[in-house]
Amino acid sequence: MEQTDKKILCIGLVCLDIINVVDKYPEEDTDKRCLSQRWQRGGNASNSCTILAQLGAPCAFMGSVAHGPVADFIMNDFKMYETDISLIVEHAKCSVPTSVVISSETTGSRTILHTNSNLPDVTAEDFSKLDLSQYQWIHWEGRNAAEQVKMIEKVREYNRKQEKSNQITISVEIEKTREPLYQLFPHGDLVFVSKDVAIHFGFQSAASALKGFYSRVRKGAVLICAWAEKGADAMGPDGVVVHSDAFPPEKVVDTLGAGDTFNASVIYSLSRGGTLQEALTFGCQIAGKKCGIHGYDGIL
Ligand code: FRU
Repeated sequence: MEQTDKKILCIGLVCLDIINVVDKYPEEDTDKRCLSQRWQRGGNASNSCTILAQLGAPCAFMGSVAHGPVADFIMNDFKMYETDISLIVEHAKCSVPTSVVISSETTGSRTILHTNSNLPDVTAEDFSKLDLSQYQWIHWEGRNAAEQVKMIEKVREYNRKQEKSNQITISVEIEKTREPLYQLFPHGDLVFVSKDVAIHFGFQSAASALKGFYSRVRKGAVLICAWAEKGADAMGPDGVVVHSDAFPPEKVVDTLGAGDTFNASVIYSLSRGGTLQEALTFGCQIAGKKCGIHGYDGIL
């Protein structure tokens, strides 16, 4: 099978997003009407699959789901976006993680209140059942990092037995400021580190974050840091910082999932042979487009 016919697999969260679109972020203890309200399938890895599918890449999602009507909504939505969900692990007695999102039309800000009461993440044991020959790229949204490191080690073991052209590219996202996630830095061929994490470590720009974090990544890896309206920077083993400006839409209306859109677009471009500069620019373009629309339909 040609490498580009193989799937891009994203591992991480799928949840329900209940999105409340308001004209202006509400005052505490007031009673207001929304402009609109909708259900949307959410979660970083799940959103990235939605983008990859729209870009035309064969993709798969691996994560946990519960049972019941909300889970049915999620599964149907995955099917609509032609995402392979055969790797989903079901937990009948658990609840679906849910985010209540306040999406402000004036600023495009998204305020997320997330709850996950009892749904466990997928484990290295679940992962060991995979037929790795089906994937060209596996992306991990940093969550249960210690387990995820074990999964990545299995892929490295697989890669060692493959010719270079058949090897699986490994990417990881370190988005939340949670200490255990930082152990993922040395494991990706491509590492996305968020502005939040960079700021948490005292960096004031993407370029300074890349220089500061680069010693943590593995030899030869590429580190990428997106910085909202300032665009995104990337650095590879040559130490040169590559930059793309943001491509803001005429009016920012919905920034929910913009980061997931960026990650997916960068992965898509690199997986099709794009250069780092091309991938970064494409990531910023598609993420910018996303911010100008509600949801993910119409990013192309
Ligand atoms: C956006 C998102 C939402 C979800 C939340 C979880 O990046 O994945 O879809 O509700 O983040 O943190």
